[in-house]
Amino acid sequence: MGAGNVAARHARVLSGFPDVRIAGVADTDAARAARLAREYGAASYGSHTALLRDERLDAVYVCVPPFAHGPIELAVLDAGLSLFVEKPLALDEGTARRVAATARRTGAVTAVGHHWRYMDVVDEARRRLGDRPVRLALGMWLDKVPPVPWWPRLDGSGGQVVEQAVHVLDLARLLVGEVAEVSAHESGHPPEQAEGAAGPGGAGGAAGKDGTAGIGGADGTAGRVGAATGALLRFRDGAAGILGATCLLSWKHRAGLEIYAEGLALRISEDRMVVDSDRGREVVTESGDARRRVDRAFVDAVLHRGEDVRAPYEDALRTHRLACAVARAAASGVPVTLDDDEG
Ligand SMILES: NC(=O)c1ccc[n+]([C@@H]2O[C@H](COP(=O)([O-])OP(=O)(O)OC[C@H]3O[C@@H](n4cnc5c(N)ncnc54)[C@H](O)[C@@H]3O)[C@@H](O)[C@H]2O)c1
Repeated sequence: MGAGNVAARHARVLSGFPDVRIAGVADTDAARAARLAREYGAASYGSHTALLRDERLDAVYVCVPPFAHGPIELAVLDAGLSLFVEKPLALDEGTARRVAATARRTGAVTAVGHHWRYMDVVDEARRRLGDRPVRLALGMWLDKVPPVPWWPRLDGSGGQVVEQAVHVLDLARLLVGEVAEVSAHESGHPPEQAEGAAGPGGAGGAAGKDGTAGIGGADGTAGRVGAATGALLRFRDGAAGILGATCLLSWKHRAGLEIYAEGLALRISEDRMVVDSDRGREVVTESGDARRRVDRAFVDAVLHRGEDVRAPYEDALRTHRLACAVARAAASGVPVTLDDDEG
């Protein structure tokens, strides 16, 4: 479901597996669905309901923008199918909680596209840390505005922390632990782009012609994503965390997580990990296979051949709630406490 950038990537990976057949592609932009479907000899549809009605499926990949999540996942789960969802889970917490509750009820195999969990350097970081307590985590996502029309608006993407830095927050949860409280500050807005002005409507959403979806401010900035976010995180076990994000650049500058424990500094990014200790510096290179592994693990789980789904929906819900908490703290200027419930 969804035939954009990330769907094309999953289709490419999945088509290389001998035990997978891509049966159908659905997109509200029927021409896009047809283009991707043609590449893989699949049927194409203009809606998720038509695809679910007409094809006999085992599993569905939901690769739609943040604003479009919810109804698709619920329909897939109600049909008794396995579910892979691209991050972020939704614009808000409520939608993701409803999907999680339904997944719990149906007992479906679920997975979320937090492929960083499959990086070699992340496995290696866990080994190096052992049971050393982490005291400080510094996360960052310093990038450009992605060239998709729905991104610059809050009602399209949910903002940079929810949409992008969520990968870093997920890694922080994995390596450091759960977060108890966040405070955050947001600054400015990225410059308007011709493409972004379309709003979520440009990608099949429900916004008006001007993309404002009922939101609009006298200064023209209401409803637009922030240009930069700084957040302070208090982990449950007492570790301190700082997250910095900006979309003001025209290139991807840095995205990753630094972890500090007694006598050990780890700098993890998508292509390497730099390890500093009293033994000097070591650089561990990433193989780049994580994007294949995340799909393989899901397929193996669907086929009952493996149990290596590292971010099932339920777990990803915790990461999503953390990202939403940062966004809420930034919008309100008031610290947000994360409770310990099941999601
Ligand atoms: N894990 C990763 O590394 C990674 C990488 C890229 C994107 N993503 C995530 O994937 C999601 C999609 O990103 P993208 O770059 O592919 O966006 P995109 O705009 O290229 O593609 C999204 C597609 O979804 C379609 N769509 C919208 N509403 C729909 C609906 N109700 N039913 C069916 N199709 C619908 C749009 O028409 C569009 O073709 C985003 O949430 C993004 O964060 C994840």
